[in-house]
Amino acid sequence: MAIRFIEDLSIASKRTFIRVDFNVPLSGGVITDDTRVRAALPTIRHAVARGARVILASHLGRPQGRIIEELRLEPVGARLAELLELDIIAADDCVGDGVKKLVSDLRDGQVLLLENLRFHREETQNDPAFAERLAGLADVYVNNAFGAAHRAHASTVGMVGHFSEKGVGYLIRKELKFLGDALGRPARPFVAILGGAKVKDKIGVIKSLLTKADVVLIGGAMAYTFLKARGDQVGDSRVDSDNLRVAAGILKTADGRKVDLVLPQDHVVADGPESQDTAVVSGDIPAGKMGLDIGPRTVADYAGRLKFARTVFWNGPMGVFEREPFAAGTLGVATALAESNAVSVVGGGDSAAAIHQSGLADKISHISTGGGASLEFVEGKPLPGIVALDS
Ligand code: 3PG
Repeated sequence: MAIRFIEDLSIASKRTFIRVDFNVPLSGGVITDDTRVRAALPTIRHAVARGARVILASHLGRPQGRIIEELRLEPVGARLAELLELDIIAADDCVGDGVKKLVSDLRDGQVLLLENLRFHREETQNDPAFAERLAGLADVYVNNAFGAAHRAHASTVGMVGHFSEKGVGYLIRKELKFLGDALGRPARPFVAILGGAKVKDKIGVIKSLLTKADVVLIGGAMAYTFLKARGDQVGDSRVDSDNLRVAAGILKTADGRKVDLVLPQDHVVADGPESQDTAVVSGDIPAGKMGLDIGPRTVADYAGRLKFARTVFWNGPMGVFEREPFAAGTLGVATALAESNAVSVVGGGDSAAAIHQSGLADKISHISTGGGASLEFVEGKPLPGIVALDS
């Protein structure tokens, strides 16, 4: 693909629309994780330094075309102003006369933050008239919203065709470098660690990794579906019954391809996720007990395998890591990953949260800001927001 990069675009004194992903977690109006805001800074700083008239646009949550006060971008604007040490001009909408006036008043190097794009249903509908209204605000289009690149929306796809001067920002470039180049042409051995609850959500990515990885380590509730498919007893563990056959098929494919697909050999079990009364069992899980984390032998085994890896991709926690009795597996894998010399790439979502929570983020080569987007990309699906920029 021929995709241009912001450094090669002519943006000085130009109205430059930058689609960012400021979809951050909020609690009572306070941002609880500002990773995505920080991840956008290099691109915004570059545009400001070049004297662009910067127009930032993002979604926040899923308001489905309604104005929801808690989903206004105001807290994000405040955080951004602090981080950039710049005044941020805030609009109360993302289209309309008021916004047009704010844009026409913008001076070189100033930053305007539009209101939540999804307050208009036309955004997610990729409505052509709405896309044209957004496009009318700017001369140059930059996409830096990797987390939303798997969405074919007005701000990620519809408006893009209106621009000849367009490209990606630093964040998307970095994401493509790690998720595309590092995992596409991996130094070997390439070890993938996959966790999370549902096999269904990960079928595509597992199938794709079976064509690329040398070893696939499985954890999380997903592991119980695979163990059951293999014929083990899993007690009352969460099993994705609709996908037992799929799991059995994946085990067979791995075998045929000589990919070492490894399942946990021991488990931290309890009556349920709320219980503090835990035990470690090896092999079969007794009736009445639920597996809620990988056990210590499994952690040691996975950590040992990570030592020799030269490339690692990790997506999905190893257990119910939000609860202290079941956090050791995820933390153990995070620590082993941080200690390895491999190029380490962590897919977004829960595994990224676990890495941040463990304080090991700076030991990881790349933590993706995309949840769904990073999975779809690793799966080999074209991301509409990237494809739209191909000139
Ligand atoms: C994300 O959080 O994964 C992105 O911001 C996309 O959000 P969405 O799933 O609501 O489209």
